[in-house]
Amino acid sequence: MSQSIAERVRALREQINYHNYRYYVLDSPEIPDAEYDRLYRELEALEAEHPELVTPDSPTRRVGGKPLEGFAPVAHRVPMLSIRTETDIEATGALNFNARIRRELKLKDDDPPIEYACELKFDGLAINLRYEHGVLVQAATRGDGETGEDVTQNVRTIRCIPLRLNAAKPPAVLEVRGEVFIPRPDFERYNAKQRESGGTPLVNPRNGAAGSIRQLDPAIAAQRPLSFYAYGVGETAGWKLPPTHSRILDALLELGLPVSSERAVVQGPQGLVQFHDDIGRRRDSLPFDIDGVVYKVNSLDLQTRLGFVSREPRWAVAHKFPPEEELTVVQAIEVQVGRTGALTPVARLKPVFVGGVTVSNATLHNQDEIDRLDVREGDSVIVRRAGDVIPEVVAVVKDRRPQPAPVRFEILQRYPACPVCGSHVVRQPGEAAIRCSGGLYCPAQRKQALLHFASRRAMDIEGLGERLVDQLVDLGLVRTPADLYRLGMAKVANLERMAEKSAAKLLAAIEKSKHTTLARFIFALGIRNVGETTAKDLARHFGSLDALLAADEEALMQVPDVGPVVAQSIALFFSEPHNREVVEQLRAAGVKWAEAAPQRRQLGALAGKTFVLTGTLPNMTRDEAKDRIEAAGGKVAGSVSKKTDYVVAGADAGSKLIKAQELGVTILDEDALCRLLEPEAQGRLDF
Ligand code: IVH
Repeated sequence: MSQSIAERVRALREQINYHNYRYYVLDSPEIPDAEYDRLYRELEALEAEHPELVTPDSPTRRVGGKPLEGFAPVAHRVPMLSIRTETDIEATGALNFNARIRRELKLKDDDPPIEYACELKFDGLAINLRYEHGVLVQAATRGDGETGEDVTQNVRTIRCIPLRLNAAKPPAVLEVRGEVFIPRPDFERYNAKQRESGGTPLVNPRNGAAGSIRQLDPAIAAQRPLSFYAYGVGETAGWKLPPTHSRILDALLELGLPVSSERAVVQGPQGLVQFHDDIGRRRDSLPFDIDGVVYKVNSLDLQTRLGFVSREPRWAVAHKFPPEEELTVVQAIEVQVGRTGALTPVARLKPVFVGGVTVSNATLHNQDEIDRLDVREGDSVIVRRAGDVIPEVVAVVKDRRPQPAPVRFEILQRYPACPVCGSHVVRQPGEAAIRCSGGLYCPAQRKQALLHFASRRAMDIEGLGERLVDQLVDLGLVRTPADLYRLGMAKVANLERMAEKSAAKLLAAIEKSKHTTLARFIFALGIRNVGETTAKDLARHFGSLDALLAADEEALMQVPDVGPVVAQSIALFFSEPHNREVVEQLRAAGVKWAEAAPQRRQLGALAGKTFVLTGTLPNMTRDEAKDRIEAAGGKVAGSVSKKTDYVVAGADAGSKLIKAQELGVTILDEDALCRLLEPEAQGRLDF
């Protein structure tokens, strides 16, 4: 029994030392603070129960880690202490602290309440700033509390830290203590920039602040959006110390140091609870991370009477909030199909309490994000949930990856077909999302697809809005748009809030929509990348639905403005048998339109002709001219060659015009171009 406790204590010390090293020395923590705190508390508890197991080198006897080799050591003249953490996370934690203080001070129940200074517990890196005669001469990290590291060069780059105090007669010595941190919006901005430029983003603001301060090159620290808040003093000389902690902070503010305005002086335990609850509510709207609040006995006299236990003052306590980051395991990665058909990967997590709720899913956004994190099934991950924000996987703890390592997660490999409807899934060039091509057929997209089908510019079914679509689909009355045409009075009149008159109106609107145009019909199908204009182009070009159904990608690319991406979308859509089936059902239900002869390439003259544009045209921009030539079947090239049919020349035409003259290419001005284009314009049918 005692043997196994001794072993556990040894194991805990080893782990804590390792994580201290990662956190304090390498600035690269592997586990979230909450997990570290648990290990630390377990060791503390075991040592309290078994004092014989305490050794001088236990991490509980020593705060922080060794200074890095690259920085000169700085002996703190007044040790940099740490604060006791109140274990009770509920508001009652504040009451416990007050009760303890009153006990220590031997106060009676009817003695007046104690005055406290309440502050935020900033989540960054503790720094000591030494001012001599008003000038910043040295900045040091806490290190182990006795000896820190000289990081003056880096700290000087922090804009909000004054290099000279704002005082006519500054104190001979004033050491200011506070926290260096990165505000959350700056952190997000910095990371967005890093990702864009292919750089390495910071894991979280705390880690980013600590890592920046420990950069050997101050130029790097200068690029990081570091900030600072003062929360106390160290050594002072030639300074009249104010009588309370809050007055010290007021004085620091006067001297030009940043002090957070989120602080309060309160009387008694209710004041503490109020401050705790108020900050807890507003935690997520603060522009920086905090992990709790700090209560300090305000009177310095009382502070002196209370004194210290080991390295912690009795007069202060940190009262933490539930962690916003936690460690858990990814049990599986699955995908969800959204209303627009995008496949969103979701990490199924071992349930974990974070940000005040139990979280069992976290979005992984898309394949790019999976690649960036390199998250795999079975991985241990850090999950973050702040406020109402959707839980996110922040980082993978690579050292805890199961062995042999699970394979990299590729959505397309794992889900070659939509998990909801079985249709093909595709990732089109330039798109982050992988999408189901099921469209109307896919239950996940059904409601969205039906709304689009019925919309004004598509089939124009008046009165068929979101509320009705929801009901029709949820009651199983409508699966595909073809089902709309099979709805009878009996079914519609049964719907919620549907009087007979409005039911009749809806049925009439559905009936009316049967008479449509081919362009509207194509648009209504909701083929990805096929908007209203493309639908019109397709209708005009093919003239009939059967001609469109028969077209392959190459044939589709003959349509003006249809490039490879759009052609692929269309071909893919009609390659799904279920999509063709819906089309047939709609035709069978009586949806019809006037079919026309195909209107291909109105301008025989421009089809297959190559144009080069040079100079400035009087009325058309170059893009307009290009669009119109291409719409008429012509091609626009960048340079003049023997293959060029026409050079369109405007004002200030240069070498291209000369080359055209040399080669004997026909030269057009804008008027001449318009005459060539005109038949096309006249030939346009209004669809
Ligand atoms: S006072 C005598 N006040 O918390 C107590 N510390 O374990 C000395 N911290 O690393 C610290 N916000 O960097 C104090 N308002 C605050 C604080 C604060 C954050 C950090 C500090 C230290 C740790 C204490």
